[in-house]
Amino acid sequence: MAASAPAGLVIRPRDIKFACESGRWWMGNDPIATAYYNAFSASFPQAERYFIDAVRYYRDRADGELQKQIAGFIAQESMHSREHVTFNRAGICSGYDLSRIDALLKARFDWARSLSRIRQIASTAALEHFTTILACEAIGNPRHLETAPPEIRRLWCWHAGEEIEHKSVAFDTFMLAAQSLSPVARWRLRCSVMAASTWYLFDFMFRGVAEFFRQDQIASPLTWLRFLKFSMITPGVIRRVLGEYLRWYAPGFHPWRKDDRALIAAAEKELARS
Ligand SMILES: [Fe+2]
Ligand SMILES: [Fe+2]
Repeated sequence: MAASAPAGLVIRPRDIKFACESGRWWMGNDPIATAYYNAFSASFPQAERYFIDAVRYYRDRADGELQKQIAGFIAQESMHSREHVTFNRAGICSGYDLSRIDALLKARFDWARSLSRIRQIASTAALEHFTTILACEAIGNPRHLETAPPEIRRLWCWHAGEEIEHKSVAFDTFMLAAQSLSPVARWRLRCSVMAASTWYLFDFMFRGVAEFFRQDQIASPLTWLRFLKFSMITPGVIRRVLGEYLRWYAPGFHPWRKDDRALIAAAEKELARS
């Protein structure tokens, strides 16, 4: 069982520009599912900038292989942000105002940047675990994206595939940053940072989704019940990733203990379809 990236893994930025044209409720005309994906997309530009800066800080200390992976990580995340900025603008064109969400994210990431460097890389590794398990679910279960317009489905598959490809970079950089700590202290740090990151992620998702519901004028208990059903029952994305999420807390966890390379290939197959 691997405790490092597979030998020969190449983190290869795929420089693709997507021409997404999105109607307001682009995910199957469903405001609930659309709000969920829109909230994530709204967060990516600022989140990925934070991830890049957290990883880049340690680049010069990394060995040759990890340095190469960090370069691939930075290139991939930069392109993800570029494409999600475009996608988010399409959302604005369809009538959404993202300024409140942007301000909330800015406050959160300004605060996160005030933490110690080791906490910044630990929270990056923790949030990258989330992007990985959600990416695996998005690609592994075609049901999630099947009602998205083809170009938007390609965008999310492209992003998800690259998230899987670079899934261990922030984790390995954290391990480098924490190498002077004892194994127990390192485990405690990454578990406590994951618990806090989980709270902040869910808090953001709640507020982000609420903002889309508010702008759609559908904020009501019934809408939230539908959101609960969407996230926990059908398709139940949060319920479905819960087991993978918990693997983080195991001593000895490493992202590549589970080999997901078949899902990268599946994402590439989707990208080749045009
Ligand atoms: Fe990304
Ligand atoms: Fe990532």
